[in-house]
Amino acid sequence: MSDPKYHALDWSQEGVPQSRIFDDPFYSRNDGRAETTYVFLDGNGLPGRWAGAATFSVGELGFGTGLNFLETWRAWNECREPGQVLLFTSFEKFPLQGDEITRAISVWPELAPLCDALVERWQVAGALGQVWQLDYQTRLQIVVGDALEGLSNWVGAADAWYLDGFSPAKNPDMWEADLMQAVFDHTVAGGTFATYTAAGWVRRNLQAAGFEITKRPGHAGKREMMVGRRSG
Ligand SMILES: C[S@@+](CC[C@H](N)C(=O)[O-])C[C@H]1O[C@@H](n2cnc3c(N)ncnc32)[C@H](O)[C@@H]1O
Repeated sequence: MSDPKYHALDWSQEGVPQSRIFDDPFYSRNDGRAETTYVFLDGNGLPGRWAGAATFSVGELGFGTGLNFLETWRAWNECREPGQVLLFTSFEKFPLQGDEITRAISVWPELAPLCDALVERWQVAGALGQVWQLDYQTRLQIVVGDALEGLSNWVGAADAWYLDGFSPAKNPDMWEADLMQAVFDHTVAGGTFATYTAAGWVRRNLQAAGFEITKRPGHAGKREMMVGRRSG
């Protein structure tokens, strides 16, 4: 793989990275970790849906700082049963540098050991993009490049999707119809997605792709977010 184009960042006073490319923060300034739990885990019925599954596949659009992954891995470590395997696949065009991931996640000491394990892999030359066996029940792959291209070539299917591009107004490519169709096509029957946005045109793209959509109250006073399901 050729060297990726790394993300150019600014930092808020609270330690939240902000994209210079998209002029948008990577997560809520109002406790990003709580937002991850509320929007992406609860929104997909996790950890409850892990019970009894031999393998569970999570797909994500936008790896960013890895906050969503690290919080999922932390919850997984608490709930998993012997022999179960979590596969986490994230599509990311502009990766952060390892030390930037450490800086962002340092706000949450509970995630520090997992973050250290992630960054140790991250900094091995040529390792980004490979499947990482992070522990004997957890596999992570970050597919580097444009999400639509990466997902079109992906042979997997997810039980749960985290749709986490920057805001639709600032990063429309991450919400466009072809990509939402590719997400649906790579979702198992009965699989779900969750996202913090409830933008009308994004909802219509997801509906046209085939998802049944439900709106929920958003995190920390945001009016609405969306969850959806592929029936079957
Ligand atoms: C809101 S951030 C993701 C936050 C992340 N989930 C976290 O836990 O920190 C959106 C991410 O989408 C990535 N991105 C933007 N456009 C993309 C594209 N066309 N294909 C793949 N990734 C893209 C950005 O580089 C950024 O890392």
